[in-house]
Amino acid sequence: MGVFLLQFKPFVCALTFALSSLLLLLELANAQQSGVTRHYKFDIVMTNVTRLCHTKSMVTVNGQFPGPKIIAREGDRVVVKVVNHVQSNITIHWHGIRQLRSGWADGPAYITQCPIQTGQSYVYNFTIVGQRGTLFWHAHISWLRATVYGPIIILPKRGVPYPFTKPYKEVPIIFGEWWNVDTEAVINQALQTGGGPNVSDAYTLNGLPGPLYNCSAKDTFKLKVKPGKTYLLRMINAALNDELFFGIANHTLTVVDVDAVYVKPFDTKTLVIAPGQTTNVLLRTEPTYPSANFFMPARPYVTGQGTFDNSTVAGLLEYENPSSPLSPSFNKNLPLFKPTLPPLRDTSFVTNFTNKLRSLATAQFPANVPRTVDRRFFFTVGLGSSPCPANRTCQGPNGTKFAAAINNVSFAVPTTALLQAHFFGRSRGVYSPNFPIVPLSQFNYTGTAPSNTLVSNGTKVVVLPFNTSVELVMQDTSVLGAESHPLHLHGFNFFVVGQGFGNYDPVNDPARFNLVDPVERNTVGVPSGGWVAIRFQADNPGVWFMHCHFEVHTSWGLKMAWLVLNGNRPDQKLPPPPSDLPKC
Ligand code: C2O
Repeated sequence: MGVFLLQFKPFVCALTFALSSLLLLLELANAQQSGVTRHYKFDIVMTNVTRLCHTKSMVTVNGQFPGPKIIAREGDRVVVKVVNHVQSNITIHWHGIRQLRSGWADGPAYITQCPIQTGQSYVYNFTIVGQRGTLFWHAHISWLRATVYGPIIILPKRGVPYPFTKPYKEVPIIFGEWWNVDTEAVINQALQTGGGPNVSDAYTLNGLPGPLYNCSAKDTFKLKVKPGKTYLLRMINAALNDELFFGIANHTLTVVDVDAVYVKPFDTKTLVIAPGQTTNVLLRTEPTYPSANFFMPARPYVTGQGTFDNSTVAGLLEYENPSSPLSPSFNKNLPLFKPTLPPLRDTSFVTNFTNKLRSLATAQFPANVPRTVDRRFFFTVGLGSSPCPANRTCQGPNGTKFAAAINNVSFAVPTTALLQAHFFGRSRGVYSPNFPIVPLSQFNYTGTAPSNTLVSNGTKVVVLPFNTSVELVMQDTSVLGAESHPLHLHGFNFFVVGQGFGNYDPVNDPARFNLVDPVERNTVGVPSGGWVAIRFQADNPGVWFMHCHFEVHTSWGLKMAWLVLNGNRPDQKLPPPPSDLPKC
């Protein structure tokens, strides 16, 4: 017996040790997988904010402008209680979050939810799956996102490194647009008259216009850095109606992530970023104290015919002086360098830049591009007109009202939410499932525009069975002027497999599609006078909005929705709505 025990004991010990370390490993893996829950509270309140010497009372989250940062790791659950204390209805959208089987938390008003009314609240509850980088949240009703927006920072799971140099510091840079007046009045007036809305008075960088505007030198964002370090700038374009060029004088930026997906790194002096897009870049500071300050300006990339805000926002890059680290770093007597940004209409720069964006496409970060396509769609996107009501004069094209459409359907916003109507089987009278898969009348989309520019109106959706693989070509039109359109798809990332100028050629263009390492994102610019082809897998049941992220075009109807049906398995079905989902 004694001998037996003596021999057995070490074996038992080894076994227990092996088991317990296995358990520990499993626990660690589990912790990594399941993540934690992060709670936030968003109080929607009126706040006085002054910019350009104009004070206005505006809608904010928690009185902050820009709004609070949401920080989470991949795999975390995010729970945000939104309480509406203002007169306007509100919803919040978590732009770019996949919302896998959590469509009730997506946020676009009258698409996935009715608005949160005065005095009401709603808890948004979603898990971040398979995304790392930067996204943003914003109001998704009327033009309230002009003042209601903020960053979403998604860190990799604990213990998982970035696939690039570990940054010394991370800094969000969020661009916005500032109007001296109430933006709800701006869009309401424009929709009344049918003309274009007044353009913004300034662009902002982290809420600040910077020294090139009246009264704004004190409202300048300063990025204070040390020499010889790597900084991760998390760039977000939350502007309403303008794509932006951005650069930092005498510095090169390395693009490493767009729309919360890693990309093959590449260097550039200038970025271009459309509304709805995010870009993470590495900034290597100079190896030694440069005895200089550097401008970080942004100004628009312009393609349309209308008026635009032709101004420049600028921040400052300042180095800490190592010989007197406590002295104020910014010294006005130092030389100030300014970068040259591309000309306002430099489309070839933009084409060049977007062609450099490629997925990592590694074993760890594969590009799961759909190789086969179940359904093909061809959508025209562009402007148009709608008739001026009788006995009124309108300020749109030839006395009509401006409109915008996809396949000539200008989306009519329903009075109840599409997702609720679908889920409870009450779609009759709310939407119809017959959104055209190709334009009903074909024309030379990028040639001389047809003289009839009238659009039709309707609340139409495309219905897709669960897991359909989709190829969608979006074609800009020259109706009332060609223009680039940053198209944003809710609920999915897509792969940008091709793009070009002129009319899409269904015979020859697909041969050039990139199915190896196309960039994966949630917002893509349809080139002005050109087309873009995207692919995605419809693996997320729900109703998913797709629209131009130029707010003015969305207001004019450049929007539609995809309805993705449940799959057969329980984990392929949309759960019922939370009990506090607002009612219309
Ligand atoms: Cu950031 Cu539906 O939008």
